[in-house]
Amino acid sequence: MESQFTSPFWSFYIIGIIVVSFLALAWLLLSQNKMKVTKDKDGKPLTMGHEWDGIEEYNNPLPRWWYLLFWGTMLFGIGYFIAYPGAGDFKGLLNWTSHKQYDEEVAKAEATYMPMYKKYAAMPVEQVAQNKEAMTIGKNLFDTYCIQCHGSDAKGSRGFPNLTDTDWLYGGTPEKIHESIANGRLGVMASWGPILGEEGVRDAANYVMSLSGKDHNAESAARGKVHFDTNCVSCHGPDGRGTLGMAPNLTDDVWLWGGTEKAISETITGGRNNQMPTWSGFLGEEKLHLLTSYVWGLSHPDGKALATDNGAVAGAAPAAAPAADDQASVNFENGALNVYFATGKADVAAGAEQVAADVVAAGKAGKKLVVSGYTDSTGDAAANAELSKKRAQAVKAFLVAQGVAEANIELRKPENITGAAGNNAEGRRVEVRVEG
Ligand code: HEC
Ligand code: HEC
Repeated sequence: MESQFTSPFWSFYIIGIIVVSFLALAWLLLSQNKMKVTKDKDGKPLTMGHEWDGIEEYNNPLPRWWYLLFWGTMLFGIGYFIAYPGAGDFKGLLNWTSHKQYDEEVAKAEATYMPMYKKYAAMPVEQVAQNKEAMTIGKNLFDTYCIQCHGSDAKGSRGFPNLTDTDWLYGGTPEKIHESIANGRLGVMASWGPILGEEGVRDAANYVMSLSGKDHNAESAARGKVHFDTNCVSCHGPDGRGTLGMAPNLTDDVWLWGGTEKAISETITGGRNNQMPTWSGFLGEEKLHLLTSYVWGLSHPDGKALATDNGAVAGAAPAAAPAADDQASVNFENGALNVYFATGKADVAAGAEQVAADVVAAGKAGKKLVVSGYTDSTGDAAANAELSKKRAQAVKAFLVAQGVAEANIELRKPENITGAAGNNAEGRRVEVRVEG
């Protein structure tokens, strides 16, 4: 280790103080030990000559055991200074350093836990998040590295995002969460105060407040909309719903920096400069995987992907992914056209024509199209059966509208109507297969 002092003088200075202290202590002990006479000529015990309420103090030497104990502690102290660092720059004969001890402890812990980390690292995030033991380890890691900013409940605070809700700045898929933790994030918004002026900021703030239905001044907000459309839509989007990974949604009444007029004005005036640190070099891939699973698990208690993971906002245009829970969509997978429906609905998703083009072409060419409706396993079975029939008919009508002859379409009730047990979105579908 480098010297901790600006000049070697200080090292010797400290060693000097230590040596002198030991010598002084030894002298003190020896001097106290000389007092042998404890009785006066008449055999009465000698006292120190003072008295409090009739209590006097004998002038006895230290008891032997106590006296030796002092020497013992002193010898221990000297031994300690010889063995360990402490006396100036002298490193101690054992060559101990706190770094070395830390490294050894870390190495020991790694050896103990690495097999476990490795086991979970080989499992997908969704699965790890359902594992109790893994989540306990994840929470410990979170408590060690993350709570100072995100809070012990991971709900964040001003400037630090809540990690338990479904509102994401950068995305809630395992990949995006991993990316956030491993590479860190920078959330930067320029200051608009100088450009908009005080009044402009107030107007823009009122418009922002109107976006989430907060109390606002309508006149001011109307003026603010002009500022917003000119300056803010490039990041926050034309409707203020934000852009995942670029700027937050301003319509959901979830605030990173506060939703009062004062806080919003402050954000607009001064801008924001926010940073999530990078962890990839410091925490190995195994720990990152556990932390990703832990964070993902906080907002996905059912272990299923959510539409909000990709920044979809409740009520926004549907994303065309089957996993996007509870939204109509269409895909072609496992040799079948899969038409997914929203809960309780029998409407074929917009844009189905493109995905269905091949199946429709086959139907037009005289092949038989078999249409089977499934439902999810929630709710009344009879009502579900009725709904699945309606959905199958809706898909048939859709195919006919695309030009397939009715004679080439067969509605067939599947053996197990609640398809894909455990996954409701998967169950709410009509399947179209080409036969013959
Ligand atoms: C020094 C404070 C700090 C620490 C420590 C910290 N974070 Fe963050 N984190 C932030 C900030 C600030 C942001 C938001 C960045 C922004 O506004 O762009 C953030 C964002 C995130 C996001 C993205 C959230 C979203 O909505 O997309 C995740 C995930 C995350 N942090 C996880 C973690 C985990 C896991 C740890 C522990 C390993 C951690 N953070 C430690 C400050 C911190
Ligand atoms: C360059 C892209 C960009 C532009 C342009 C921009 N913003 Fe932002 N805005 C951001 C980012 C990024 C954040 C989040 C900062 C963070 O992560 O802490 C943000 C945050 C905010 C917030 C705080 C949201 C919260 O949850 O607390 C408000 C309010 C806001 N912007 C309003 C505006 C207004 C009004 C304008 C136009 C005058 C504007 N922004 C222009 C990128 C932008």
